[in-house]
Amino acid sequence: MRRIRVAVAGVGNCCSALVQGVEYYNGNGMVGLIHEEVGGYAVSDIEFVAAFDVDSRKVGRDLSQAIFSEPNKTPRIVEPSLLGVEVQMGPPLDTFENTGEALVEVAEEKAVDVSRVLKDRGVDVLVNLVSGSATESSKYYAEAALDAGCAFLNAAPAPIVTEERIASMYSSAGVPLVGDDLLDQIGATVAHIGLLEFLHRRGVRIDESYQLDVGGGAESVNTLWKTRGLKRDIKTSAVSGSVPYEFPLVSGSTDYVDFLENRRDSFFWFKGSYFGDAPFTMDVKLNTVDAPNAGAILLDVIRGLKIARSRGLGGPILPLCAYGFKRPPERHSLVEAYSLFRGFVEE
Ligand SMILES: NC(=O)c1ccc[n+]([C@@H]2O[C@H](COP(=O)([O-])OP(=O)(O)OC[C@H]3O[C@@H](n4cnc5c(N)ncnc54)[C@H](O)[C@@H]3O)[C@@H](O)[C@H]2O)c1
Repeated sequence: MRRIRVAVAGVGNCCSALVQGVEYYNGNGMVGLIHEEVGGYAVSDIEFVAAFDVDSRKVGRDLSQAIFSEPNKTPRIVEPSLLGVEVQMGPPLDTFENTGEALVEVAEEKAVDVSRVLKDRGVDVLVNLVSGSATESSKYYAEAALDAGCAFLNAAPAPIVTEERIASMYSSAGVPLVGDDLLDQIGATVAHIGLLEFLHRRGVRIDESYQLDVGGGAESVNTLWKTRGLKRDIKTSAVSGSVPYEFPLVSGSTDYVDFLENRRDSFFWFKGSYFGDAPFTMDVKLNTVDAPNAGAILLDVIRGLKIARSRGLGGPILPLCAYGFKRPPERHSLVEAYSLFRGFVEE
């Protein structure tokens, strides 16, 4: 019962960070994790039992090798041992053209019945890490997980938890669901929220702020060509709740620079006034590697979902959504979301 049986949909950069992370934190200390244990579960309790992709460079390979296939660019931090989990062909439901870059080379294999695989392997949690533009695929995996009765973690921006029809099906079936769009450990959105919360708590009046990104990697291409409007909407609405008044605010336009690979440069600008209307401006630049930024949160939420399952909970698990996602059904400040998460897992 201590094992957490995990399946992944989308063997891209985040999946690489997640799979490598589980091996890395089995003997390399705990620096970089937010929680060593969550409700008594260690990272080493996580076990990968199934994986799905549609790219010919990944399908048919062992998960431990497929995570290093092109076009993935996540840095290698371990030499993972063979996992004995072959990446299986998922349904290629979305188009991958018109992105200006060859992101995905769709394999010719016949797609497997994902729900059947999830049932046969006794999966606890399906982690959705498909491309941000693959909305139909995200919905397909959400329905397959529901059918198999396994918890669903939607790290992608596709509306799943925020789609009433899907969320209510999960509630009726008593199956846990979390999302949408993962909130990174120290990514641009969470840093923007954190800085705005800080300024507001210090009595500062904020007049203008923006946050813009430049990144490499497949997901930056996707954001530039396909999901720019959706990502900008998600990020701006995630950030706008940080201060209880409206002001000109933009968050989340991304441009693509291929040689950055999996790296991201995030630029922040703030303008406002403080005591006696004294003006201030603040420029901040954050350099990160994208995929590892998802790792610590994924590891926490996967363990939180195992707890939700063992308590027989179903539907959107609000404390996990508030803690780990940019578009949760209910928004909280970063501090509140963290205590909600702690309260939930320690209950
Ligand atoms: N830190 C982060 O990188 C971060 C943060 C928040 C959200 N996300 C989201 O997580 C997801 C994964 O990000 P990434 O950087 O790993 O992307 P990526 O482009 O590196 O990987 C996506 C993978 O999904 C695969 N895929 C596409 N359609 C599929 C289908 N129908 N079935 C199975 N696999 C399919 C692609 O072949 C690719 O291997 C994206 O939706 C992204 O928006 C990432």
